[in-house]
Amino acid sequence: MFIAIDGADGSGKGVQINLLKEWLKSKNCEFIFVRDPGDTPLGEKIRALLLNEQDLKMSPGAEAALFFASRAQLVTEKIKPALNSKKTILADRYLLSTIVYQGYASGATDAEIAELWQVGSFFADNILPDFTFILDCPLEICDSRLNRNRDRIESKNTNYRAMVIEGYRKAFLNWSQDIGGEAFLIDATLPPLAVFDEIKRRLETRF
Ligand code: TYD
Repeated sequence: MFIAIDGADGSGKGVQINLLKEWLKSKNCEFIFVRDPGDTPLGEKIRALLLNEQDLKMSPGAEAALFFASRAQLVTEKIKPALNSKKTILADRYLLSTIVYQGYASGATDAEIAELWQVGSFFADNILPDFTFILDCPLEICDSRLNRNRDRIESKNTNYRAMVIEGYRKAFLNWSQDIGGEAFLIDATLPPLAVFDEIKRRLETRF
């Protein structure tokens, strides 16, 4: 079982991930947690390049390629071995983030989005989540929750961040199971425990 949590910066992913970790433990489920990008020695170097270098110029294509590289390493080092030993995987973001941030929010056409899915799946060795939970939340609420130092991507302009939120909605509406498992758009304006109930409801029968 491979579960990914995705959504715009400030949508409340962190809280839901912590609640999910506790819930999986309470079910005696053996799982690993991974964050994308990062979580391997190469991935952490790429993550630093992508997020910490505020003034580094990077085209959407270059950004996408770096996210693909980090994820390829993550799949090899962590995700595949976990799947082989029948562990559950809980991922903080995955390929959908690239589709949205480097695709929809960067002005990609429908044809380019389809290509990104294809190329992205290739670099992820065709390992895609069984369940993707997308936390959906308007920009004002996301912004009010981002009260910390912003990284390079979080510092992009309001228009970009609004397109990220819209991109998740478009990706959800265009979801097809052959892309990768099931996706759920979750109303993340609700209080955290109510949001978590929505997630749990979809997983309860599987654990
Ligand atoms: P995240 O881990 O959510 O950051 P934080 O540690 O601040 O919670 O994600 C890092 C940033 O990278 C986030 O702004 C989204 C962005 N991102 C992409 O643009 N493309 C991708 O493919 C991924 C995985 C993340």
